[in-house]
Amino acid sequence: MNVDSLYALRDVAGVPSHPILFLVLGVVTFALHMFAVHVMLGGAALTIRGALSQDSYWRQLANAMLSTAKIAVSVAVVIGVAPLLFVQVIYDPFWYTSNVLSAWWVIGFIIILSVAYLLIYLFYFKNEDLTQNKTRCPGSMILSLALFIVVGLIMHTLTNQMLSPDQWMEWYAPQGQIDASGTQLHSINWARFIFMIALAAPVTGAWLYGYRHYISVRPGSDSGYLEFVHTLARKLLAQGSVVSLLIGAIWMVSLPENQTEFLTNPMLYITAVALIALAMVPTLFGSKINNGYTAYWLVAIAFVVIALVAVDREIIRWFALVVESGYNPMDYPINMDWYSTILFFATFAVVGGMACTYLLTVAWQAGQTEGTYTPSVAISRLGNWTIYIIAIWIVHYFAVGFWVWAQ
Ligand code: HEM
Repeated sequence: MNVDSLYALRDVAGVPSHPILFLVLGVVTFALHMFAVHVMLGGAALTIRGALSQDSYWRQLANAMLSTAKIAVSVAVVIGVAPLLFVQVIYDPFWYTSNVLSAWWVIGFIIILSVAYLLIYLFYFKNEDLTQNKTRCPGSMILSLALFIVVGLIMHTLTNQMLSPDQWMEWYAPQGQIDASGTQLHSINWARFIFMIALAAPVTGAWLYGYRHYISVRPGSDSGYLEFVHTLARKLLAQGSVVSLLIGAIWMVSLPENQTEFLTNPMLYITAVALIALAMVPTLFGSKINNGYTAYWLVAIAFVVIALVAVDREIIRWFALVVESGYNPMDYPINMDWYSTILFFATFAVVGGMACTYLLTVAWQAGQTEGTYTPSVAISRLGNWTIYIIAIWIVHYFAVGFWVWAQ
């Protein structure tokens, strides 16, 4: 494809800050998105496994994982918006073309996601306490998980199609006949997609270590259940890492030609070593893995592995688009907008910081309390201030908008 046509598709308004900022934020927020997706997929799969079992430990785990999956899906959706914004800003010629080529699926994405989201709540309302030996409507949970995976497949295809500008014309007008329907998913790289999904196993293993520690400090916790969770966590972490590594290797040997330069990139080998190291942490620590905050460190290491995969993914995109197609997002004209840049970081730090601190503190303390949890005066004040700050932010947002419009 002629590189001038790619440049012609750029937004004439330019970008409001240096493109590197959007690139870095895109990678970081994608890593956060994937981590939440993995916890959601793993939590949902364990919920189904436990809900279909009569074993009391499995059912207890299913009960806990249903709550985890419900929250993780909200986090995945909310954080998913961030890489969506960043990829649109610096890779707009590619992202929008890919979206238009599969327009029905882009719209379908929202509908499928909404149905999957409703189904998980349907299952929850039908089974508010899974520890009872009866599961109602397990099909809703199974269908929900399947639809979430379809949602991921759509995102994968959109990402993958943007990497092959040379094939866009063939997809748009196969054998010279224009197909403007947008009903096709043109390019699925199954090894890449399955690798992205399979990483849910080791991440969920690490997550279960954290969960095990979190409940172990409650008075009267059941040691049999803790051991059950520990065994499952170890298995998921070790076997999940090996399986992910093998699928990742298949992805690497089947890389399309315009991405093969990545095979000589040190990041590939660093990521593989990090994945192996993640699987080995419990063996290295032995029973100490359940001491102090070690289990939480394991969750943090799992996040680092996902972040490395996010970096790899960006390097692959760089090879395909910058090196092979000659399009450089770093030379996007900058129309510096200090106000929106400062506002973005201030919102992130102040509004996001306060809301996250409040929610995490409440979740943490409530989980460690027996009986009814009542937050302290300071925590309640933080909650109230979080709401005031959000209200102030919304008023300010519209005030600035009207002021700009009135100019
Ligand atoms: C809840 C179910 C979801 C699943 C299972 C899922 C899964 C995935 C997967 C596997 C990828 C990687 C594709 C690849 O690189 O091959 C991905 C990318 C992405 N996802 Fe999600 N996703 C979900 C929901 C969402 C939502 C709701 C949004 C946005 C509102 C979103 C935004 C994105 C974006 C923007 C990317 C690509 C980012 C980039 O190319 O830089 N995802 N997702």
